[in-house]
Amino acid sequence: MAKIVGAITSTHVPSIGGAIARNLQQDAYWKPFFDGFPPAREWLAKTKPDIAVLVYNDHGLNFFLDKLPTFAIGAAPEYRNADEGWGIPTVPPFQGDLDLSWHLIESLVAEEFDITTCQEMLVDHAFTLPMALLWPEQGKWPVRTVPVCINTVQFPLPSAARCYKLGQAIGRAVEAWDSDQRVVIIGTGGLSHQLDGQRAGFTNKAFDLLFMEKLISDPLWVTRYSIADLVELTGTQGVELLMWLTARGALLGEVNKVHANYHLPISNTASGLMVMENL
Ligand code: DHB
Ligand code: FE
Repeated sequence: MAKIVGAITSTHVPSIGGAIARNLQQDAYWKPFFDGFPPAREWLAKTKPDIAVLVYNDHGLNFFLDKLPTFAIGAAPEYRNADEGWGIPTVPPFQGDLDLSWHLIESLVAEEFDITTCQEMLVDHAFTLPMALLWPEQGKWPVRTVPVCINTVQFPLPSAARCYKLGQAIGRAVEAWDSDQRVVIIGTGGLSHQLDGQRAGFTNKAFDLLFMEKLISDPLWVTRYSIADLVELTGTQGVELLMWLTARGALLGEVNKVHANYHLPISNTASGLMVMENL
């Protein structure tokens, strides 16, 4: 059976792509952020996953407001990035894994999740930047990929409890997959940030740090909050933390924190990184 080696959760912010392109990793503004990643890369070098399941939210590149699925899974041989208007360089394509894509889709639909299947899919900065941070040899991606998209762009959004259950169903599906492949779950988004409206620039460090702690010890804690509560507590885009919760759900049992980093701000965003594995 396939093995889940663990999960990595990370922030995605377009300006990270600009910093990589301009080699600003040691710049005073960027260093505390980029310095979080070497331990995650060391863990990946040790655990050697073959496939990454990427749980993220598209921001209007693949899905626009006219058609926006709550949950969508890629089932394409290859995923390409495209210019999404932030001025960041596009990156070489990512290889898919059709067997795992269809196994996940079939398992999740059987578990009563209504999944949109995407046999063509563009992937945006929420997918490409965490990949570039974790495997910085640009374009030489050593893992095949399966994109899992959750809507956090247009209301109504799925609840925290629903996302946690989706993560658990992903975990069960991967573990039941008749394969010798090693799988890492990557969740990207958050932490607290708000890009628009009267509270633009809003962040909440106390909540972020508590959320990171609870994700390890008591992931159901955050399901007490409605989406409206989460917007109030973390900002309109802070709800992207649902990706972290989904990735954590996929680990099923108790987990150990291998590594964590938190730095505020990168652009408008409280940036977080965590590596977790099952006990
Ligand atoms: C920013 C953060 C995001 O999560 C995003 O998708 C786009 C921009 C920001 O802070 O600039
Ligand atoms: Fe985002």
